[in-house]
Amino acid sequence: MKVLFVASECAPFVKTGGLADVIGAVPKTLAALGAEVRILLPAYPALREHAAAADTVLAIDDLFGGPAALRAVTAEGLDLLLLDAPHLFDRPGNIYLGPDGADWADNHLRFGALCRIGARVALDGVAGWAPDILHAHDWQAGLIPVYLRQAGGAVPKSVVTVHNIAFQGLFDAAVCAELGVEPESFVSERAEYFGKLGFLKGGLACCDRITTVSPTYARELLTPEFGMGLHGVLQARSADLSGILNGIDLDAWDPGADPSLAATYTARSLKKKAANRAAIEQRFGLDAAADGDGPLFCVVSRLTEQKGLDLLLAVLPGLVARGARLALLGSGDKSLEAGFVAAAHRFKGSVGVEIGYDEPLSHLMQGGSDAILIPSRFEPCGLTQLYGLRYGTLPVVARTGGLADTVIDANEAAILAGCATGVQFAPVTAQALDQAIARTCELYRQPALWQKMMRQAMKHPVGWDQSARAYLALYAGLLGEAPAEPA
Ligand code: ADP
Ligand code: GLC
Repeated sequence: MKVLFVASECAPFVKTGGLADVIGAVPKTLAALGAEVRILLPAYPALREHAAAADTVLAIDDLFGGPAALRAVTAEGLDLLLLDAPHLFDRPGNIYLGPDGADWADNHLRFGALCRIGARVALDGVAGWAPDILHAHDWQAGLIPVYLRQAGGAVPKSVVTVHNIAFQGLFDAAVCAELGVEPESFVSERAEYFGKLGFLKGGLACCDRITTVSPTYARELLTPEFGMGLHGVLQARSADLSGILNGIDLDAWDPGADPSLAATYTARSLKKKAANRAAIEQRFGLDAAADGDGPLFCVVSRLTEQKGLDLLLAVLPGLVARGARLALLGSGDKSLEAGFVAAAHRFKGSVGVEIGYDEPLSHLMQGGSDAILIPSRFEPCGLTQLYGLRYGTLPVVARTGGLADTVIDANEAAILAGCATGVQFAPVTAQALDQAIARTCELYRQPALWQKMMRQAMKHPVGWDQSARAYLALYAGLLGEAPAEPA
């Protein structure tokens, strides 16, 4: 089975969030299960060297204002198709935002071009390779099913995965002509959304199947609270919508072999975590823990409204008063950045903050912290709690989306059954977060129980195997094939 993935990010090459981790990981498991996956990505500067070493498989004289080429290369075990269009993608800095922090003014052309070429590869194949399935991820690939519908005739089956419905790719109707979106596509049954062109809306309306990245988020998306204006579109297609939980790359995230850790460890050598904790204390200027202190919490996150970290700012005095400490790595909203920097001054020695994006440091934080805080208002899946589970860093999470599906709350029943792996709280308010932090501190003061939870967390299956099989079964269903036998 041949599958074309189209996405705007892919780890380890270019990453702003979890989408990249998913695109860089699931194709490897799909390949191990017998599928042939190619990933179409823009050739951003981070991919320039790979593009230079690649074979040109398609040359385009003019792609929305400049020449372009599609180049095929295998890198880091992934088969990439790189859309080399310097006028669209050869820019420094953030892949979505200009130096002023606003979206690039031509994002419709940049990702429209990605979709245009994605549709072309889906329809005509490239260098003798033609996909059976087109799998588009998020709004940046959302127009592909619209182009396929426009092409008519026999087109490959298409799947759209919603990683985050907060980002929808809405543009002025005037861009339709430039993008080759025909009037027949600019209707409410397809890509039109309240007078605008909606990349994601179009994809959701025109694809064969829709998935999102957790079963709970799949249900939440059907509600006005979480559907962000697209709940009606999704309700109409609810028979074709399913939630398939994300996994993580077990090689890239392995506490037993992680080169970013001060000391590697396994469930049988948990004491070695202390060396990582000491490295964090040093890096973040935190006081060393004394006997009877609370846990070292960490946060590794984009600083945005979604992540609920304004609530954490509000409850920091309580966290510190309970003898706990916090190390935060993140970047995003300027006001949240400023809030955490101020908190680090106010609670010197107890709260340490690093504003920025640092992949190796994010690994060290998973390795050395006791617990990871994720108070998201919504969370389609979330990956940092999965890294936390694998590293024995217990997740303290809002009960929403994929957080609800992956963390087992340490309530009395779960403790008795020996299956607890973290703490969940609801509703997502400062008060409930404060109580969750208090509860976590109580659990931490029971070392035998805490260690049991750490071991339980580290046993939790977080790899891709099961979910990759679910994707394969979905593809097979679309192709009218019998699903592969479970191993
Ligand atoms: P989202 O995609 O909504 O940001 P996820 O939890 O799915 O949330 O994925 C976030 C990914 O980005 C994780 O791999 C996390 O470790 C990483 N990450 C977030 N912020 C930072 C940061 N400041 N430095 C390093 N890695 C980060
Ligand atoms: C999005 C979501 C996050 C999810 C990630 C990968 O960025 O916010 O919850 O884990 O995509 O699917």
